[in-house]
Amino acid sequence: MAMARLDEACDVDLNDRDTFLSHDELIARVRGKQGLIAMLPDTVDRAVLEAGLPDLKVVAAVAVGINNIDAKTAAELGIAVTNTPDVLTESTADLTWSLILGIMRRVTEGDRLVRRGGWKAWAFDFMLGTELRGKQLGIVGFGRIGRAVAARAAAFGVRVAYFARNPQASKAGPGEMPAEPMPLDRLLATSDIVSLHCPLTPETRHLIDQTALARMKRSAYLINASRGPVVDEAALAWALKNRLIAGAGLDVYENEPTVLPELMALENVLLCPHLGSATSETRTAMADLAARNIVAVLTGQPPLTPVT
Ligand code: DGY
Repeated sequence: MAMARLDEACDVDLNDRDTFLSHDELIARVRGKQGLIAMLPDTVDRAVLEAGLPDLKVVAAVAVGINNIDAKTAAELGIAVTNTPDVLTESTADLTWSLILGIMRRVTEGDRLVRRGGWKAWAFDFMLGTELRGKQLGIVGFGRIGRAVAARAAAFGVRVAYFARNPQASKAGPGEMPAEPMPLDRLLATSDIVSLHCPLTPETRHLIDQTALARMKRSAYLINASRGPVVDEAALAWALKNRLIAGAGLDVYENEPTVLPELMALENVLLCPHLGSATSETRTAMADLAARNIVAVLTGQPPLTPVT
């Protein structure tokens, strides 16, 4: 669908390799192009943007998070940047709950045990997990995805607290489930599950560091399906190893696809390979929205989902 849309509107230079272009290759290939579709591992910095001048009009990210794109420089150079909000909200919220359930009920730990032949017999007190009902879910970043995560909480009997930098913009709308705004410190200290849904910015890099982790309850779980560098991974491994928190469910990492060996060695962390938006339905919709953004700009229309 997306390719057909692009083919109809423009000449497409497709990277049909299994691997992403290197930074140098990206610079070479962007020359003379009017539009660039960027995936998460593509670093679209000033060098890439300037290499595209004077032709480059639009960079369409196939993601909602655009920390890999220098949007400020793009704006300076008159290049539009678009992303793919909304279409991935539900799939990312679903994945978040699978991390929550998976780590609290020890699903992947149990799977590993069964596969290595470690399951000897049913036992009354075997692999006990933690129940959701009556617990507090603290959501950090209450935008579209944070709210979609909150919307699923009622089904599990979980109450929701949230921290947002702009609480006004994040106020729950009519019909949305009640959620209590809280300062970050209080949210960390009182939540049974802390789930991160903020963008990666200079302010949120290592927002969850040693101090933040030490504030959390010893029985609490940390969930990250936002961006890896929001969490100081070394501090998290330390906290998990020393049982300062009960567990963590991660979909994202500081240096993807590398995962800190200290984390790999721990049972009380669920490690997922950045699958937040990875459903066929969502990925099709993301590709199509990116293609529609490119076509809109190249035909003189305003972009559908601009970030700048
Ligand atoms: C996003 O859109 O930011 C996701 O992380 C991509 O999977």
